[in-house]
Amino acid sequence: MKYKIFLTLLLFSLSSCGIPRGFPALQFFPDMYDSPAVEAQEEDVFGGTGGPRNPPVGAISIDEEVYEYASIRAFQDLPSGGLTFPSEIKKTKENYARGEERYHIYCYPCHGAQGRGNGPVIGNPPRIAYTPAMDFSKSPAKEMTDGQIYHTITMGAGQMPAYGSQISPEDRWKIILYVRKLQELALKTPN
Ligand code: HEC
Repeated sequence: MKYKIFLTLLLFSLSSCGIPRGFPALQFFPDMYDSPAVEAQEEDVFGGTGGPRNPPVGAISIDEEVYEYASIRAFQDLPSGGLTFPSEIKKTKENYARGEERYHIYCYPCHGAQGRGNGPVIGNPPRIAYTPAMDFSKSPAKEMTDGQIYHTITMGAGQMPAYGSQISPEDRWKIILYVRKLQELALKTPN
């Protein structure tokens, strides 16, 4: 008899082996455990009549900014006076430093340390072909307004990709501060 009780106990103790830790060994009411509730982003089990929906076409997240001139391609087509340097961004040492730092991340590979269009990715194929437009001391960059440069950073130009989704509007203006500094230096030391 004692032997049988021992065997039964042993069986019970083994029955919980092999079940992952954190789960009850035996589920007496599994319906509550495996709830039929639809999780966020799960497949629409209601056949399009309920459950999680896709956002309406054209919806943007609340912290996304709508760029007013997104339908304009070429910077020359910007309305004059439409986009001007914001007065809140002062020409402080910190803002120049931030612009310089961002410039070295996003612009330097093509435009180069001096803004002369001779960055490390410019050269013979498979590199990007040099175009004089990339030299900030030459036309058109030399004559461009701050707003036109802002538009170029936001939308891209020719082989230049758009950086609107990567660089915040504030940082775009700070980069322009630095670009102006490079232009000043380049014009003082013509190549
Ligand atoms: C992948 C290379 C690349 C990067 C990175 C890049 N550019 Fe350019 N950029 C170009 C090329 C190529 C052109 C010449 C475009 C053309 O006219 O075809 C250009 C042109 C320009 C012009 C002149 C506008 C024009 O239409 O010619 C400005 C101003 C400019 N870039 C600013 C910037 C700034 C500021 C950054 C950093 C935020 C940047 N670029 C990053 C490649 C690049």
